Amino acid sequence: WAVFEEDIAAILALKRQRHAVVLAHNYQTPEIFHGVADIVGDSLLLAREATKVDADVIVLAGVHFMAETAKLLNPGKTVLIPDLQAGCSLADSITAADVRLMRARHPGVPVVAYVNTSVAVKAEADVCCTSGNARAVVESLGAEHVIMLPDEYLARNVATQTKVRITAWKGHCEVHERFSADDVRTLRDNHPGVTVLAHPECPPEVVAEADFAGSTAAMSDYVGAKRPSRVVLLTECSMSDNVAVMYPDIEFVRPCNLCPHMKRITLKNIRHALETTTHEVTIDPALADRARRSVERMLAL
Ligand code: 13P
Ligand code: SF4
Repeated sequence: WAVFEEDIAAILALKRQRHAVVLAHNYQTPEIFHGVADIVGDSLLLAREATKVDADVIVLAGVHFMAETAKLLNPGKTVLIPDLQAGCSLADSITAADVRLMRARHPGVPVVAYVNTSVAVKAEADVCCTSGNARAVVESLGAEHVIMLPDEYLARNVATQTKVRITAWKGHCEVHERFSADDVRTLRDNHPGVTVLAHPECPPEVVAEADFAGSTAAMSDYVGAKRPSRVVLLTECSMSDNVAVMYPDIEFVRPCNLCPHMKRITLKNIRHALETTTHEVTIDPALADRARRSVERMLAL
């Protein structure tokens, strides 16, 4: 921790000077999550909290679509992302033209876009969802058939919980698609009694083998509420590091996959972002209103 102290102190001072807040996703490293973040959470909480921020500057310690969502909800504030290359394989898996093609193939069927999408894709959707509210959003539309994009596995996992017919896209999270049902069985053999929690971006056969599936916040809440003596979180590596700090009495088994995009954010580039007001997130004005409507419709639920 000593190696981080100088940057942490500098960031805390810069936040005061600039009247800035740091919103950090649960996959950020512990020195960010516990050291400099004002608000931490899953994508849904970060979007909700972005609507309540009382600051001039928001630094989004997470990936680009999260910063875009914060900017959509705060058009008058400066929103910074410390590394513009912090992308997402799901957001990269689909374009606005793909969504129009899906609509043409399924006339009249509403489109639910995961927040892990570009502003252009959100603008083509009827409503957004996150892993924390996907089923509720799908069912809120009152439709028999819904298009859900771009995560095939999230869509198939939601389909097991609802009567609504779901047509999916073929996008995958490069972190969660690497977990297999075999991994879960091996974990259970090697760590008797382990409680297995999986993110719903994992393949459905992984979720079927798990004890619980939910968003990053839901996984953290599960650990806090149930206090399993031994647990594994099938998700990005920093998640266990951050949650384990809060529960020293719980054994965290830690096979995990790194998200290279989340890991682009560091204390050094958060400090640089605040010192130089970079990189400022901007939204194409031609898309902003329609994309914002999709996010706000989700938040209104
Ligand atoms: P959550 O909304 O569950 O935090 O997930 C975001 C994400 O990028 C998962 O890979
Ligand atoms: Fe995207 Fe997967 Fe990384 Fe989340 S973990 S930001 S879904 S690539």
